[in-house]
Amino acid sequence: MYKMISIFGFMITTIMLFVSSVVSQPRISFTKILLPPNTTSPESVAVDRRGNGPYVTLADGRVLKWLGPDFGFMDFATTSPDRTKDVCDGTLNPDLIFQCGRPLGFSFDTQTDNLYIVDGVLGLYVVGPNGGQATRLASSAEGITFRFLNGVDVDTFTGIVYFTSSSTTYDIRNITQPGFQPDKSGRLLKYDPSTKQVTVLLRQLYVPIGPAVSLDGSFLVFSEYGNKRILRYWLKGLRANTVEVLFTVPGYPSKIKRTSIGDFWVPVNIINPATFIATPMGFRFNSFGTVVQKVDFSSQYANQNITVLNEQNGVLRVGCRTVNFIGIYSP
Ligand SMILES: *[C@@H]1O[C@H](CO)[C@@H](O)[C@H](O)[C@H]1NC(C)=O
Ligand SMILES: *[C@@H]1O[C@H](CO)[C@@H](O)[C@H](O)[C@H]1NC(C)=O
Ligand SMILES: *[C@@H]1O[C@H](CO)[C@@H](O)[C@H](O)[C@H]1NC(C)=O
Repeated sequence: MYKMISIFGFMITTIMLFVSSVVSQPRISFTKILLPPNTTSPESVAVDRRGNGPYVTLADGRVLKWLGPDFGFMDFATTSPDRTKDVCDGTLNPDLIFQCGRPLGFSFDTQTDNLYIVDGVLGLYVVGPNGGQATRLASSAEGITFRFLNGVDVDTFTGIVYFTSSSTTYDIRNITQPGFQPDKSGRLLKYDPSTKQVTVLLRQLYVPIGPAVSLDGSFLVFSEYGNKRILRYWLKGLRANTVEVLFTVPGYPSKIKRTSIGDFWVPVNIINPATFIATPMGFRFNSFGTVVQKVDFSSQYANQNITVLNEQNGVLRVGCRTVNFIGIYSP
């Protein structure tokens, strides 16, 4: 049993404003849930099947759960078994990621309420609905240790877990180092709980990020950041085990999440080639690869790259590696 260890102060700011959208100009509400003091990097955000949360991954290795304005955040789950709160809570020391953990993506299995978590450097984990220390399911594939897992999704029909690795050579510390160049050693991976085996589905990808399984389980989509495009990998049917380009995007795409009606949201961060200023956008697309909605998040995330857009009942939870709040966007 994992008790609530700490409740933090919090603050919510609601800003009503107009946000420009290519498709429409709706009046929207944008609310911020501030993270606990000294914590940052809410890269992934999700709610559970009952709509509780949001849950959030942090740079200091924890997954937190928001209990609402009266109670704030509680510690929900951890990946590293070596993590201690005194050393790790609030840390920004990149070299502590192996001790403290660095969860970067997660996804609920809506059949079991288990939460699958990818820790960038430590591997694929699962934790039950009460949270606590997650169980590691895999730390390598084909003899290559994971260094930069970034996204995960579960096929709720089969229980099979799909996840992505940005690279087999570098980890999250390297991307901000001078002269860094991404390589094409990314992999699309599969974990089958019935055999406990990891299979490499695709390799030599140019920074694949954040897979999402389709509503009918016939395919999954993922971003290829380096090539600024969205790929589709067929899981069933005549084209099973083949990949195709679904569409290209005008910026760097990040983690994809499916909506309840079967569309997908992907953040697309457009970098101005002259000023290097980032315009964070959200694209919603359908299973034909048609973009049906675009939202510009520049007013709320000025010059930041957003990392995930997770929709439930029309409300988008926004993740971003470089801020200290969770964004809640409702048209
Ligand atoms: C946050 O960090 C500051 C500066 O390191 C420190 O003085 C303060 O106690 C920290 N607050 C919490 C809640 O950890
Ligand atoms: C990544 O960064 C770590 C820590 O600074 C360093 O030891 C390692 O050599 C770097 N790896 C690459 C591929 O640059
Ligand atoms: C946003 O992403 C671009 C492209 O990867 C990168 O050059 C830039 O530094 C990022 N901005 C921030 C604030 O992280």
